[in-house]
Amino acid sequence: MKLGIAVGYLIVDRLLSLAGQIACQSFPPEFRFGVATSSYQIEGAWNKKIKGENIWDHLLHTRPEFVADRSNGDVACDSYHLWEQDLDLIAEMGVDFYRFSINWPRLLPNGFANKISADGRRYYGDLISGLRARGIAPVVTLYHWELPQSLQDLGGWANPLSVEWFADYARVVFSLYADQVDTWLTINEAIYVCEPSYRDIVAPGLVNEVGALLCSKYILLAHAAAYRIYEEEFKPKYGGEVSIANHEFWFEPKTDEDLDITVLARDYAFTRFSYPIYSAEGGWPPLLEAFMEEKSKSEGYPRSKLPAFTPEEIELVKGSYDFFGLNHYSSRTVRAALPGEEYGAFSADGFDEIGAILESRPEWASESGQDWLTVHPEGIRNLLNRIKQQYGDIKIMITENGFTDLDGDLNDIGRIEYFESYLEQVLLAINGDKVNVVGYTAWSLLDNFEWTSGYQSHFGMHAVDFSDPRRPRTPKASARYFKSVARARSLDVGNFTAAN
Ligand code: NOJ
Repeated sequence: MKLGIAVGYLIVDRLLSLAGQIACQSFPPEFRFGVATSSYQIEGAWNKKIKGENIWDHLLHTRPEFVADRSNGDVACDSYHLWEQDLDLIAEMGVDFYRFSINWPRLLPNGFANKISADGRRYYGDLISGLRARGIAPVVTLYHWELPQSLQDLGGWANPLSVEWFADYARVVFSLYADQVDTWLTINEAIYVCEPSYRDIVAPGLVNEVGALLCSKYILLAHAAAYRIYEEEFKPKYGGEVSIANHEFWFEPKTDEDLDITVLARDYAFTRFSYPIYSAEGGWPPLLEAFMEEKSKSEGYPRSKLPAFTPEEIELVKGSYDFFGLNHYSSRTVRAALPGEEYGAFSADGFDEIGAILESRPEWASESGQDWLTVHPEGIRNLLNRIKQQYGDIKIMITENGFTDLDGDLNDIGRIEYFESYLEQVLLAINGDKVNVVGYTAWSLLDNFEWTSGYQSHFGMHAVDFSDPRRPRTPKASARYFKSVARARSLDVGNFTAAN
């Protein structure tokens, strides 16, 4: 089987590198373009009315040193107050949809579904109807890392009851807005909810490798519970679609010797959160499951640290999707760690668990100013092909892709080049490889609070002046570029690499 996987890697890579197809510059007419944000990163108004505290509010109020510039999302882009300006910017870009998230404790102040905040309900209601009035479809993420602190105090995602808490919350949101929203994402980047959060890297800032693995199971069950609620109670009436937005890097072996560790690393980081949903068999990826069982035993645990699914749970999670949601930014090489080797920053998200070292190639170096964001556009095409190879000809929606810089320049040539080169590869995947990619979401509409990088990392197509209490927004060159692409549904939009 291992040899089969290795040969598979080589064949796919060789086939793709033949690059036989002439790049067609146009996207299919039904292809959808959108832009994205998330609530903690833009909303501010962290304690407005009866809003409860979420885990980021709590972490950054108690441990501000978590963020490079000791900033937080208390005010951020102030989109709580300035949402209409945001909607006008989106409308001006001419995109098809806006992906945003609901701040769980803004709607349910204590996390539980017994009390719905009138203010939260009004805020998201206005946002959704404001989008629709402008002809923009809302794409709503239920969880972009805003767990109510009250639920974290009860164990958060490591508590099996988190499945119920999330299901109750999802039902409230669907009941309020399913008549106006057609596309839903349950969880944003399960890997980041479960790994760096239990390695003291992001909120809630815990250290517990077992917690990371418990979380993996319960977050998948929570996703599936929400999916099934929609499927049974709302889909017959409204016919919308629900999925999860998983993050994946393109992983490739550093050398031909590193094929096995690459497959394991891929299982550990990504397939862990996709195989249970998209594979025909369901359950944990078999290689990872066997590895974790063995490793847990060798560490003296009475059972695997990666908790088993029951047969009923396997069935519940399997098939809980209407499309594959993919967040993608960058690529990594993988190799086995040498005895006693330190795990660098790239490998901090739990790769010590499997003994893998992640690195980059010199030719992928970028001007992003963020070590993690190396640029390798072919990675997205490879990945799209691999998803099709692994799970069949399913619909794939790119739920995030984007580029950061540190200077925040309005003439953001690096971002335009990134979008152009990645979109070219998406087109090759669609037109050349016949992968069923149905949409592309650019991250992000605005410069915003970039988690532990604070306001120093700029992903936005619009600059925000964070020193001005009115938080004025200014379009960058990339906003004009993306508008042209979205309107023409083509990359043939002339030269945007100079300010114009
Ligand atoms: C993915 C996350 O979903 C988003 O919140 C973040 O800002 C971008 N990556 C860029 O790091």
